[in-house]
Amino acid sequence: MVTTATRFEVWAPGRVNLIGDHTDHTGGLVLPMAIDLGLTLRAVAGGDEVRLSSADQAGEAVVPLAAGDGPAHRPPPTGWARFVAAVVAETRADGAPVAGLRGSITTTLPLGAGLSSSAALEVAVAAALAAAAGAGPVDALRLARRCRRAEERAVGVPCGIMDQLAVAAGVAGHALCIDCTTETWTPVPIGDDLAVFVVDSGVPRRLEATPYARLRDECVAARARLGPLTEATVAEAEALDDPVLVRRARHVITENRRVRDAVAAFAAGDPAEVGRLMDASHASLRDDLEVSVPPLDRLVARLRRVPGVHGARLTGAGFGGSVVVLADAGVDPGALGGRRVRPSAGAHVVALP
Ligand code: GLA
Repeated sequence: MVTTATRFEVWAPGRVNLIGDHTDHTGGLVLPMAIDLGLTLRAVAGGDEVRLSSADQAGEAVVPLAAGDGPAHRPPPTGWARFVAAVVAETRADGAPVAGLRGSITTTLPLGAGLSSSAALEVAVAAALAAAAGAGPVDALRLARRCRRAEERAVGVPCGIMDQLAVAAGVAGHALCIDCTTETWTPVPIGDDLAVFVVDSGVPRRLEATPYARLRDECVAARARLGPLTEATVAEAEALDDPVLVRRARHVITENRRVRDAVAAFAAGDPAEVGRLMDASHASLRDDLEVSVPPLDRLVARLRRVPGVHGARLTGAGFGGSVVVLADAGVDPGALGGRRVRPSAGAHVVALP
């Protein structure tokens, strides 16, 4: 990242999660990768407001920075401007400097497709604020934590750290195995002989319009009963007296295990095993977490039958969005009907002349 610049461009990728969903609420394991679809924010530093326009979304995001422009003096932001205002607020809450800028955003990331377009926007804005203020390179974890809080502030959804960290810390050619308790990660190479596809289910969703918060609370309640779900056993989960918590705990316990096993299978060059784990993950998300919907199940079933496909599962929160597919690089993209995405570097800032 550049330390300071008058004119600059920020790239922030989307992410797809290969395996490990609804585990970050309880400090579990996830395996997302930053992708080569994302958002570009071009800006000029200066002035006493943050003013951004978007080629893809209506309206402008305008956040005044001068004293006396507190929330009481202006209407609350709506639409995508909420995320921009929330990042400004959380940057301040972190004690980091905030400087004015004016810029525009373009994106190649489909909105509402479960590829973390909001995390990409948050991380891009946070990186732009730092660049405009000459704040020096911001550590990826710090940026991700700030942006996770911004998501919660903007839409009231108590999301985990996965999306923002994948966007901020992505490594080209790799997925990241993130331990959400220690907030540390290990890059996992994804070989060139493999291809990752995202296929949109056509069921759009916004996180705040789903039962995400309730599911998260149920997972947290299961953890309170059983201790760390990275250590607990399925037998312990099944001994709980609440059938809802049994299902939530069983999903999280087995999903954490599947992430570990998938990392080992990638290292062993065994994509068929990764595929088997992805299929099992989908079944668990459908049956024990209850976050799938029939169009996702039908799509997963169709994609698994395509020659060269190792596995397919819903990715991210569920209730709609995209399916992630792991296939041989030689698979016929036409037969999948989706889009190949490549494991990419995380967000970065480039100074412009
Ligand atoms: C959303 C959240 C993440 C994570 C996933 C489900 O993408 O932002 O923190 O909880 O859902 O794995």
